[in-house]
Amino acid sequence: MSKEKILIIGANGQIGSVLSAALRDQFGSDSVIATDIRDGAKHQEGIFEILDVLDAAALGSIVERHQVTQIYHLAAILSAKGEANPLKTWDINMNGLFNVLEVAREKGVQKVFHPSSIAVFGSDIPRQHTPQDAVLKPTTVYGMSKVAGELWSQYYFQRYGLDVRSLRYPGVIGYQSDPGGGTTDYAVEIYHYAVKGKPYACFLSQKTMLPMIYMDDAIRATLELMDAPAESIRVRTSYNLAGMSFSPEQIAASIQQEVPGFNVLYQPDFRQKIADSWPESIDDSAARKDWGWQPKYDLDSMTRDMLFHLQEKYASV
Ligand code: SER
Repeated sequence: MSKEKILIIGANGQIGSVLSAALRDQFGSDSVIATDIRDGAKHQEGIFEILDVLDAAALGSIVERHQVTQIYHLAAILSAKGEANPLKTWDINMNGLFNVLEVAREKGVQKVFHPSSIAVFGSDIPRQHTPQDAVLKPTTVYGMSKVAGELWSQYYFQRYGLDVRSLRYPGVIGYQSDPGGGTTDYAVEIYHYAVKGKPYACFLSQKTMLPMIYMDDAIRATLELMDAPAESIRVRTSYNLAGMSFSPEQIAASIQQEVPGFNVLYQPDFRQKIADSWPESIDDSAARKDWGWQPKYDLDSMTRDMLFHLQEKYASV
């Protein structure tokens, strides 16, 4: 049995649910404690507990009871949903992180993963191949919370030696789980409509390029970052991470190669403004150099895999 005890917070979410399964595969079911604020139908094969990350005492007691050595803190309110209630978003995203960092420091947790996002970028950046060290002037409260979170992560590393690691995820696309409240969610929804044979009304305009990544690559990046030797992690705020970049009309064309006749309409809403403030593509050379990051999926290989798995999923219901 692995000596690691891994706590996942937000284990029912889009990334958390897939990451929980990947960590159970890597470390064994008994080594992974999945938690979420909601009940965990997805975790029948492993340990699951209800946890509100704002409840520091409950978090501390889980860490102590299971002798947790690593925490993956994935609970957050994302970009689009966050704009509906900025102060609540700040409260959950920041105080959740403070609770995790403090409990980790107090109880001697060895490693912490805290995701950041392309939402840290805003005005005054080069939009193509946005560099690691671009100025960070986000326009959403979610982006603001991620910038602050990156700096707090670095602070805990420098001040207390807590091994906090982080990735700036692009939009994450997978068949296993549904996204919630993000600006990049269209790129998941569109596949579901294609498989159901329905036209899709896209909430971004056809030429809006955004950085994206396939779930398999996002999970592998996370595990590779966490497995890398501490001395190779030179960025202690958060690493730029790239998979691919495309626009709604390009993903539609990729799907149409497999599903001829699939129809997409464009009805941009408030999320267009958020997307327009983000990079079109990301320079992730620091991640490649420091810990060997290399994505595997491009748009067409992702499309084939997504359609295959979603067709299987809908056929079985
Ligand atoms: N996918 C996220 C969002 O759209 C970006 O981190 O909010």
